[in-house]
Amino acid sequence: MFVTFEGPDGSGKTTQIRLLAEWLRERGREVVLTREPGGTEIGDQIRAVLHDPYNTAMDARAEILLYSASRAQHVAQLIRPALAAGKIVISDRYADSTLAYQGYGRGLDLEMLRTITRFATRGLTPGLTLYLDITPEEGLQRRRLGGDEWNRLDAEALEFHQRVRAGYLELVEQEPERWAVVNAARPVEEVQVEIRAMVQARLGKETRVTKPVIARNKVTKQSPPLLMC
Ligand code: TMP
Repeated sequence: MFVTFEGPDGSGKTTQIRLLAEWLRERGREVVLTREPGGTEIGDQIRAVLHDPYNTAMDARAEILLYSASRAQHVAQLIRPALAAGKIVISDRYADSTLAYQGYGRGLDLEMLRTITRFATRGLTPGLTLYLDITPEEGLQRRRLGGDEWNRLDAEALEFHQRVRAGYLELVEQEPERWAVVNAARPVEEVQVEIRAMVQARLGKETRVTKPVIARNKVTKQSPPLLMC
């Protein structure tokens, strides 16, 4: 099963993904955790270029092609082989980030982005996408306070992040059967309980939802679907 997490910056995806993976592994599932951009050695090199705050001259088309290049490598080298081996793949961001940030955020043509994405992924679409919703104001504030990596996109104006969030909400409306929306402006534990319930519903009844144990002080920080996993 291919599960992706999406959301504005600072929505707490990374922490939630880690907790979800721990829970699934405790229940005997083989889980591969990955992220975009990145997920492979080549993808991580592309990530460094994309997120370098000094690369302010980057053209919007170069940006989309770099995200897509990272994704193509990610799908071919890591995601498809893991799914073929029966593992659960959880990716921190995937193609919906391109639609939200480059499409709704930067204003690039959505159909063109979908075409590029289909080419890069050979049509691989997640079976479940969890959208962690939070206002850009709160999300960016959390990132500042959490001392997270401050990337080129964080530095965009607030209006950009507002367009990104509105874009995500539109994507959810277009494909409600694939998406599950979680209010991320709540305590970590509460959010995790809801996420587990949503994942459990997709995986079947064999896993029981339990309250997550959170380590103290641990602040951690796509298109007609052709193939659903
Ligand atoms: P993150 O690893 O902290 O989530 O940062 C990834 C950043 O890259 C985030 O600001 C969203 C952005 N991004 C895009 O703009 N387009 C994409 O296709 C992806 C995968 C990420």
